Amino acid sequence: MLHQIAFEPLNHPPASASDIVRLRDTLGQAREAVLARLRANLAAFGDKFPAETCVNGYYPLTENVEWTTSFWTGQLWLAWEMSGEEAFREAARRQVRSFGLRIAGRHDTNTHDLGFLYTLSCVADWRLNASREARGFALQAAEALLERYHPKAQIIQAWGDLDDPEQAGRMIIDCTMNLPLLYWASEQTGDPRFASAARAHVNQSARFLVRPDASTYHTYYMDRLTGEPRFGNTQQGYADDSCWSRGQAWAIYGFLLSFIYTGDKEMVRLSKKVANYFLNRLPEDGVCHWDLALQGTDALRDSSSAAIAVCGLLELVKHLPVSDPDRAVYQAWATHMLSSLNQYYLAKPDDACNGLLKHSVYHLASDKGVDECCSWGDYFYVEALMRASGSWKLYW
Ligand code: GLY
Repeated sequence: MLHQIAFEPLNHPPASASDIVRLRDTLGQAREAVLARLRANLAAFGDKFPAETCVNGYYPLTENVEWTTSFWTGQLWLAWEMSGEEAFREAARRQVRSFGLRIAGRHDTNTHDLGFLYTLSCVADWRLNASREARGFALQAAEALLERYHPKAQIIQAWGDLDDPEQAGRMIIDCTMNLPLLYWASEQTGDPRFASAARAHVNQSARFLVRPDASTYHTYYMDRLTGEPRFGNTQQGYADDSCWSRGQAWAIYGFLLSFIYTGDKEMVRLSKKVANYFLNRLPEDGVCHWDLALQGTDALRDSSSAAIAVCGLLELVKHLPVSDPDRAVYQAWATHMLSSLNQYYLAKPDDACNGLLKHSVYHLASDKGVDECCSWGDYFYVEALMRASGSWKLYW
């Protein structure tokens, strides 16, 4: 049973009438700038992957490790859809083979982010090109993700070994974005275990990660032996009781993705509630501070959260009836935020930087990716441009 979660009345974005013009005027240029940057990066990166974030403006290159490599593959799939240029598709398909080797060798796969990793690489290839090979890799990854499910606590553990005392029984709000891989695996195989774990996890996330005021904890510990809830805290936010902006953005989009697979309308209501909390705490240009508790200060922005939220909002409006009074307001917010990203955050060709979207914060406390471009910010920005340019079929 879900606790009572507040439904804040939604504020309107500032100057929403001119945003429509601003978006129209910036969209084409933004798409061209993105494609030019991705062509150049593809030539420079070869078969390596960009690291999680830029360092002093530029992505270090890595092998296929960590949780973010598929955001590069996902950008290549989007660029191929956007431009029809075969070079993007060929590179993405080479990377899919790298994801195949990674899951076969279980190399750096001890993470719930198998969802991000295999959805944007292999499920995308299956959806776009009907690749049986990619389908098989993604199904192996879904099996590995299912191994992280604690049946008693009914959650998927985010990080680390399942019996690591620091991490055991810990779920995080970001994981709502990893669940599509599990739902998809059940659709593909007819085996209900994947979807049933995803449903249980998303319900536990709604119960424990979402607070009564519709803000979210970044992380929450469950007792994996008794299944009892323990406590929430933060890993990347300002404080345990603050609201980390990216977590809230993951929640807007992630709860909605569960609705798409399950048809559970409670997930749409939840997406709206967390969206209202997020949108009501934005500065003038609509691009959030890195923690929503820092509203009204000069704290750094996290443009990646804005890009994620734009994608979530543009998906949300597709599932609301036209009679919903907030539908047009969500659309206006998405327009406002995306036009600000185009105008003020998209890297210019002569900037000393090879990412797309400037001014993200990965983890301030550990001084990682602070005020840099990041790979997921770049991915969700390109997804937002695709969504704003016409209909787009989800990889999720
Ligand atoms: N999922 C990790 C992050 O959003 O930083």
